[in-house]
Amino acid sequence: MSKKVRTAVFGLGRLGYWHAVNVAKSRNAELVALCDVNLEAAEKIAAELDVPSFTNNPEEIFQDDQIEAVVVASPTNTHFDLLSKASATGKAIFVEKPLTIDLQEAFEIKKILESNNTICQVGFMRRFDPAYDAAKKRIDAGDIGKPIYFRGISRDPVAPHESFIEHSGGLFIDVAIHDFDIARYLMNSEVSSVSSHGRVLKYPFMEKYGDVDQSLTYMEFATGAAGDAEASRNAYYGYDIRAEVIGTEGSIFIGNLRQHDIQVLTKAGNTHDILPDFPTRFTDAYSLELEDFFRVVIEKAVPRVTVEDGVKALEIAYAATEAFKTGQKVDLSKAMSRL
Ligand SMILES: NC(=O)c1ccc[n+]([C@@H]2O[C@H](COP(=O)([O-])OP(=O)(O)OC[C@H]3O[C@@H](n4cnc5c(N)ncnc54)[C@H](O)[C@@H]3O)[C@@H](O)[C@H]2O)c1
Repeated sequence: MSKKVRTAVFGLGRLGYWHAVNVAKSRNAELVALCDVNLEAAEKIAAELDVPSFTNNPEEIFQDDQIEAVVVASPTNTHFDLLSKASATGKAIFVEKPLTIDLQEAFEIKKILESNNTICQVGFMRRFDPAYDAAKKRIDAGDIGKPIYFRGISRDPVAPHESFIEHSGGLFIDVAIHDFDIARYLMNSEVSSVSSHGRVLKYPFMEKYGDVDQSLTYMEFATGAAGDAEASRNAYYGYDIRAEVIGTEGSIFIGNLRQHDIQVLTKAGNTHDILPDFPTRFTDAYSLELEDFFRVVIEKAVPRVTVEDGVKALEIAYAATEAFKTGQKVDLSKAMSRL
């Protein structure tokens, strides 16, 4: 691939900064512009990464015909608007999860992207993580027989800032959605129903937004399999991401909490280090997903994570939120027909 995709990044916060770093490093892309409503942040990062242009006005990016692709890492409630405009102006799109904050918006943006033939990849980076990727290959090769149970654990060490929580969609939509996506992917099945529980255990401010800091979703799959996904903001000890798939002939465990393969033995005990945060745990995955996006743009191919995947995961997250609020099991086909 000799061509470089001229790319702009929207949103330079906790994750967008790392996307900008990865675009700047990519051999298949050229980071030509940065956009953040916080102009100072855009200016500082443009200087650090030697990016020729920065702005706090998204329109400048859309009106620039030289820009072929955009990476959208702004807050989830801004995705619909930025995606609509990027699609209308002919840009290829990499958008962070969740696709949109609202499910109706997700259905609508899917139609818009399809009618404009827009290439759009959704940021479910776990699919590109070497451990999840190896697990997928072993499951599809039949190494554990038929997958019958999924378990996902997604625990953040702390809650994000309150202004983020306000526009995050809540724990099921913001965090558990990663497990809903990877569950569909690893189990090779759609989720047919969910039951959910949740509680505020540590961050009382979440009550203002009807959000929780700890949740559990039980899933039933169309294949007859079952599973559960725990999401938490309360893992004081570190960033704890694990999964397990039980099959009829074996089981696969993904993730072991360790940042380095080091173990320290003293008279006080046996210790190892712990992964601190998402940029550290998913360094490779964030880089690999963008590399694959640029390949897709250059080859005009279909992304490995599609808009359809983004919509499906959001449907499960919506159903899980409804199940939590009503205390009732939610059948996904009925939940969607109510919309
Ligand atoms: N895949 C993952 O592991 C992962 C991890 C964290 C966040 N995310 C997703 O990334 C997105 C951003 O999350 P974050 O934690 O980085 O948020 P953040 O609040 O740390 O950063 C968001 C940035 O976007 C800027 N911004 C706000 N509105 C904007 C607009 N209209 N145009 C351009 N910039 C704008 C803000 O000034 C801020 O700098 C969210 O959709 C979130 O769900 C994904």
